[in-house]
Amino acid sequence: MFRQSMIAVAAVAALGVVGTANAADVAAGEALVKQVCSACHDPSMWKGKSAAQIDALIHEVVAGKVTHPQKLTLSDAQMADIAAYWACVAKK
Ligand code: HEC
Repeated sequence: MFRQSMIAVAAVAALGVVGTANAADVAAGEALVKQVCSACHDPSMWKGKSAAQIDALIHEVVAGKVTHPQKLTLSDAQMADIAAYWACVAKK
């Protein structure tokens, strides 16, 4: 019984890390944006959008659902990092 509930807690914690932008690494996102995205994207483009909304948009681009001049190949973690960074700078 005790073991089972420990496993459940661990599973919820793991989901939380993947599912929220809180766990994202803003510094890693900044580095990626500066390397790849900032040639075309100004952070002001994301004004008023939350990290979750930006993350969803990047997912659509990576999945090929949104027309984009350049094919993007990013991991879930990289997308979360970029979204966290853009949400952070767009607020200013
Ligand atoms: C070669 C230029 C270029 C680069 C590099 C680039 N983008 Fe884009 N991106 C665009 C253009 C152009 C659009 C379409 C903008 C529009 O619809 O007004 C776009 C659209 C998007 C959208 C959809 C926005 C929306 O509101 O639907 C997302 C998300 C996005 N880019 C993310 C990224 C990310 C993340 C990177 C870096 C990993 C990146 N882009 C690199 C040019 C670029």
